[in-house]
Amino acid sequence: MAGFQLRFLWILSGFFLVTVVLANDGSDGFYTAGVAEFRPEIMGGSSQQLLETNLAGYLELIASANGTTDIIVFPEAALNSVVTLTAVPESTKLSLCEEQPDDDLEIAPFLRKLACAAREHSTYLVVNVKERAPENCPSDISCTNLGYVVHNTNVVFDRQGAVISRYRKWNLYLEPSTDRTEEPELATFQTDFNATFGHFICFDMLFYTPAQDLVEGLGIRNVIVTKMFNSELPFLTASQFQQGWAWSNRVNLLASGGSFPQGGISGSGIYAGQQGALARLMMTEETVGQRRLLLAKVPLNPEQDMDDSDEILETEDPTPIKLKLLQQPELKKFTTWELPMIKGSSVEKRICQEDLCCEFRISWSPVGTKPGYSYRLGVWVGVRRYEEEQYSAIRLCGLFTCSSSDVESCGLISEEQRETGLLAENQVVFTELQILGEFVRRPRSLITPSTLSSSHLYALQPSQLAWSMEELDNLTQIKMELRQPHSQLMTFAIYGNYFDEYANDGATTMEGSRMGTLLFLLITLLMMMHLIWE
Ligand SMILES: *[C@@H]1O[C@H](CO)[C@@H](O)[C@H](O)[C@H]1NC(C)=O
Ligand SMILES: *[C@@H]1O[C@H](CO)[C@@H](O)[C@H](O)[C@H]1NC(C)=O
Ligand SMILES: *[C@@H]1O[C@H](CO)[C@@H](O)[C@H](O)[C@H]1NC(C)=O
Repeated sequence: MAGFQLRFLWILSGFFLVTVVLANDGSDGFYTAGVAEFRPEIMGGSSQQLLETNLAGYLELIASANGTTDIIVFPEAALNSVVTLTAVPESTKLSLCEEQPDDDLEIAPFLRKLACAAREHSTYLVVNVKERAPENCPSDISCTNLGYVVHNTNVVFDRQGAVISRYRKWNLYLEPSTDRTEEPELATFQTDFNATFGHFICFDMLFYTPAQDLVEGLGIRNVIVTKMFNSELPFLTASQFQQGWAWSNRVNLLASGGSFPQGGISGSGIYAGQQGALARLMMTEETVGQRRLLLAKVPLNPEQDMDDSDEILETEDPTPIKLKLLQQPELKKFTTWELPMIKGSSVEKRICQEDLCCEFRISWSPVGTKPGYSYRLGVWVGVRRYEEEQYSAIRLCGLFTCSSSDVESCGLISEEQRETGLLAENQVVFTELQILGEFVRRPRSLITPSTLSSSHLYALQPSQLAWSMEELDNLTQIKMELRQPHSQLMTFAIYGNYFDEYANDGATTMEGSRMGTLLFLLITLLMMMHLIWE
């Protein structure tokens, strides 16, 4: 009898041991991730030559990690083009590294070489390609001008080089020769280090589907995004947006970006929820892009406390901003108030527009007599337009810089900052800054901190920013606060994306959107010609 009880206890304690170990698995532990900031070759060779050059760059970066990574991510549209397409299987049992006798898809050699690299360095690998789908062009829709179906596609290889996930971009952005899938896809994959990832592409991050579907619907905590993102001031520069998105979704985010600063494109990083950036890069000081692999040890659980001393904080030296930036197009519609540049000022202010009210409490002081920027508080509720027929309902409020006292100069880089960076004597020190925002609740919304420091266009880190959120009956109350004085603020705001709230009133005519596309193509062309002349 005693023996039985003892054995029973043994079994019981064994059971507890197992549960404890299992519970620990998800909450402890790290994986090593790499994201590439990558400058694609876009001129000076045939399409095939450009592809070869890009591939060589990929292989070199993969090798530079010496097999230390669990996963490496490359950006959107930095490898092949619509004239060097490849087929992409949905998944394969075997490595794509070697051709199989029963292969029925036209897999391009470059994709096989990447599969071999994943195997050689024993790492998961995510790349984005232009894919030629096997099916014929359905006659009823004008599927690209190429006559077959082309997708903008993420491919994921496991450590053997087998394809374990494929995602075709849903929210296309000015991609006239690329097709959408009929339905949005939710792409996820599991790894041998116990992280389940969801992945999508660039512009997708501004919409509910598939990005929020993955996080809210499927409970994904590790997210990958491949990007070629054009930064916009004051709220949507690349790293700022990535960090805010990961922060509010409380997920790990691996963001790999194309590097083409002369075209406004840069921004990569690895973020762990509200623990901020673990690695990040914005090419702000140079006009030529880079090829660099950013590495970080990522907690499996983004809520798992990391050592505070690990927080990265870039220097606050003045750095010139050469990156070409877009400007928020609706600034004239904001309700704003300009801060007087008087030493030792303090103010409490409540500003409302439509259904959004925000309370600001601020103390500030210009350091010298001629501040490099003026500052405004602003509140805006409206629908913003991206190119094409894409819209989001936005509610936002915050503080941002303007380069003159004209509202339309907000979100423009000042001459001084473009040339030398903001000198110490022209800065404004904020010693207290608190925003209390009362945002209406909607089933689909994502309210994020949107912060920016002028020295490298990075968001504030957890040691600099306090953020709390309370759900009341019909309101989400956000409190956002500066934790320590800051003298290089460009943006300090609460940015609410209400996605498709007004979807039905937002639509414009085809003519309007076609004009937008034409204009964009024209500008791109001019930009390229400009580059050649330079
Ligand atoms: C890879 O090895 C090279 C040469 O030993 C070294 O310089 C480099 O720092 C290593 N990289 C990593 C990520 O460990
Ligand atoms: C992942 O979890 C399994 C069981 O759930 C465990 O056996 C394994 O050691 C874990 N792997 C890592 C890398 O934590
Ligand atoms: C929220 O609810 C309160 C009381 O229930 C009401 O007075 C207020 O008008 C509501 N606000 C909005 C924005 O619907």
